[in-house]
Amino acid sequence: MFRRIDHIGVAVEEIEASLELWRERFQMEVAHREVVQEQGVEAVLLDVGENHVELLAPLGADTPVGKFLAKKGPGLHHVAYQVADIDATLATLRQAGVALIDEQPRVGIRGSRVAFLHPRATQGVLTEIVEPAAHLGVH
Ligand code: CO
Repeated sequence: MFRRIDHIGVAVEEIEASLELWRERFQMEVAHREVVQEQGVEAVLLDVGENHVELLAPLGADTPVGKFLAKKGPGLHHVAYQVADIDATLATLRQAGVALIDEQPRVGIRGSRVAFLHPRATQGVLTEIVEPAAHLGVH
């Protein structure tokens, strides 16, 4: 069902300040940077092999990541698995009774389609599934 880990999402207060650690100290390349209005975040993807770390800074306090930071502070936010067909994967999970946050895919970073599964169905780990934009391909 899952091809590989696409990225791990890390909630941060502020992108520029956190790049100090990830880009300068860990020497990871910034692959992409984008404001994703639909998710209320500014996001940066950093390369680590074929996978990514996704830094997420909230656009406001009243966003999911803003609320996460207020409650828990910066830290690991979610794990994202790559899938070839997000509609088919969601249908399979729904049929199996897995609780979903997103009944339908929504727009994610870099033109991907994403959906979140409910942490109560995933042993406490907020889990995202990602179908990459067609031009980026699934691998
Ligand atoms: Co993500």
